[in-house]
Amino acid sequence: MTSALDTQVWRVDPAGATAQTPELAPAVAILAAGGLVAFPTETVYGLGADALSAKAVQGIFRAKGRPADNPLIVHVPSLAAAEELIHPKASRGPLQLLADSFWPGPLTLVVPRRGGVPVEVTAGLDTVGIRVPNHRIALALLRALNRPVAAPSANRSGAPSPTRPEHVWRDLAGRIDGLVDGGPCAVGVESTVLDLSVWPPVLLRPGGVTLEELSAVLGVQVAADPRIFAGAPAEGPVRSPGMKYKHYAPRTPLLLVEQPSPARLLQEAQHAASRGERVGLVVCDETAIPGSSFPVVRLGPRSDPGRIAAQLFHVLRTIDEGRFDLVVVEGIEPKGMGLAVMNRLRRAAGGQAASRI
Ligand code: TXA
Ligand code: MG
Repeated sequence: MTSALDTQVWRVDPAGATAQTPELAPAVAILAAGGLVAFPTETVYGLGADALSAKAVQGIFRAKGRPADNPLIVHVPSLAAAEELIHPKASRGPLQLLADSFWPGPLTLVVPRRGGVPVEVTAGLDTVGIRVPNHRIALALLRALNRPVAAPSANRSGAPSPTRPEHVWRDLAGRIDGLVDGGPCAVGVESTVLDLSVWPPVLLRPGGVTLEELSAVLGVQVAADPRIFAGAPAEGPVRSPGMKYKHYAPRTPLLLVEQPSPARLLQEAQHAASRGERVGLVVCDETAIPGSSFPVVRLGPRSDPGRIAAQLFHVLRTIDEGRFDLVVVEGIEPKGMGLAVMNRLRRAAGGQAASRI
């Protein structure tokens, strides 16, 4: 980037947004002209560009500092619009079933692609990831533009994904043309990525639709790529290039305690404090740690992992304001939405799971 862009901000009420909303017109015009606009979805904010313009899509990689071999998700307003991107010979049964059950919604389907999808979008793969977002502003933009929009999360590469407009602003102001401010995102973790180019399908990223929900609808046990359980970035060939990169990480080192107990969390915190480190605790609402004087950041209720997901990235960003040398984080059960939460926490900890005892 040689010169900073004058990033415009349009505040739009999601409840009333349609393709005719006047405040969205400049955002649509910028996208149509090949520019970059961040916008809310139900999962996280996306950084959008015209998916059929190689030049526009290259701008996304520059603004985010994203590795070129990590493909982008293409956003469309309907399954009919998705058809334009899917290889005519790809099987339609499971796709139709999943689209009927979960679109619009937080599910990205990886399918064989047609020619014509720029190589920058797919990073050279013969598949493309597609989803229909469940957010009135995102759908209004897609309908008004009448073209597919490639959109990764609107954060600097490696940082926690943005779930509030101020997160986008902090990471990308001056680097993008505009930001549609539609308030906070409801789901709070990114979409589930499911590889439908193989059978049975493989879960590449846990997200807003759970593994259990997918298996129930498809009537087969959906396999999960083992790398989604790992903390450290994957090495060697991966099915989803996003697995290779450090992700979701606050600057503060994070120690994730799996199968935690209050005593165990306290012990880890005391151990680090004895080395002279400033330590914080990140724990569920229900967790009390008797005898602790460490500052506490709350994750949300263990009884409702969906609520933990909704504020997870905000919590990860808040941690950096506490000026800690280390935060000790309480893990939750990796079931339902808890799987997506634990996937993000493990990646944020970069493989730093507590291993003593
Ligand atoms: O919820 C979301 O999915 C958000 C919102 C903005 O829609 N987007 C998002 O995009 O999280 P991004 O770029 O941050 O993550 C996309 C993930 C990456 O891990 C990427 O490797 C994977 O999807 N992916 C995209 N296309 C793929 C493909 N053809 N094959 C395998 N993995 C793919
Ligand atoms: Mg991302």
